Amino acid sequence: DWTMAEYRQQAVQAIRDQVGDGKVICGLSGGVDSSVAAVLIHEAIGDQLTCIYVDHGLMRLGESEQVVSLFREHYNIPLVHVDASDLFIGQLEGETDPEKKRKTIGKLFIDVFEAEAKKLGGADFLAQGTLYPDVIESVSFTGGPSVTIKSHHNVGGLPERMNMQLVEPLRELFKDEVRALGRELGLPESFIGRHPFPGPGLAIRCPGGITREKLDILRQADAIYLDEIRKAGLYDAIWQAFAVLLPVQTVGVMGDGRTYEYVCALRAVTSVDGMTADFYHFDMNFLGRAATRIINEVRGINRCVYDITSKPPGTIEWE
Ligand code: XMP
Repeated sequence: DWTMAEYRQQAVQAIRDQVGDGKVICGLSGGVDSSVAAVLIHEAIGDQLTCIYVDHGLMRLGESEQVVSLFREHYNIPLVHVDASDLFIGQLEGETDPEKKRKTIGKLFIDVFEAEAKKLGGADFLAQGTLYPDVIESVSFTGGPSVTIKSHHNVGGLPERMNMQLVEPLRELFKDEVRALGRELGLPESFIGRHPFPGPGLAIRCPGGITREKLDILRQADAIYLDEIRKAGLYDAIWQAFAVLLPVQTVGVMGDGRTYEYVCALRAVTSVDGMTADFYHFDMNFLGRAATRIINEVRGINRCVYDITSKPPGTIEWE
């Protein structure tokens, strides 16, 4: 029977005992887990920790700036922000196969992270925001599907390759406990309550090949959709909501002219753990409002559709 304040103190002590005066690097993803791990480790060992944020150029509107300013300005944590968007987007150009897109992103991520770690002169420890469910899943995933539905992009391949010891201060915690610890550490609520976001980012929300132009269009549509969800007070009732830019153009009419632009699909689901999900039953007025704003405000989209597929048989993401 312990409180988060006590857990924080014990975890800080455990990190100090493990690390001594060694150097630690931590890969930030912009998500809750790696952020909480980094802030906790920084509290324990200060500037013996350096964070590396590999920016693949596939984040949502304003997201990279938020991560960088939170860590650098708010917490004063040494952070290397690697803008690798040219590399990622260049390598993904023309690639339309979902699995190849995921694999390319996963591989590049490891390459860039490793190169940056080398530039820092290496480190003794690699910090990860591994949670308890990740620990169990990796040892007892026998009942799971025998085919890979999607190869998840995470940093699982890093430790062996880089020959570093792991620091995993969240290994005993469930997601809700990590959020409580994040609050205890003063992370902003807007950060802690965020919907999950996949490692491969917007690349898997642009079915088909990606281009900078498509990513820009998607970013704007997604930001408007989420703005409307927040304004309607629905953000916390939804597990995940996002826009998808379809590789389909349709004919429309704007003023007295013909348009020929992309279709945007809107997705929102409720779920407990992401393994199964139901589509969210919006009020039609809400959907009409969001669609009208997207079509009026985003150049390049002239039609919106709402995805009413649950999981299974659909998956939450489109790729
Ligand atoms: P699916 O699309 O498989 O997604 O129903 C289930 C949950 O996992 C997220 N997701 C990912 N998360 N790396 C991640 O870290 C990935 O490669 C990845 N693919 C899907 C998805 O957003 C949803 O929350």
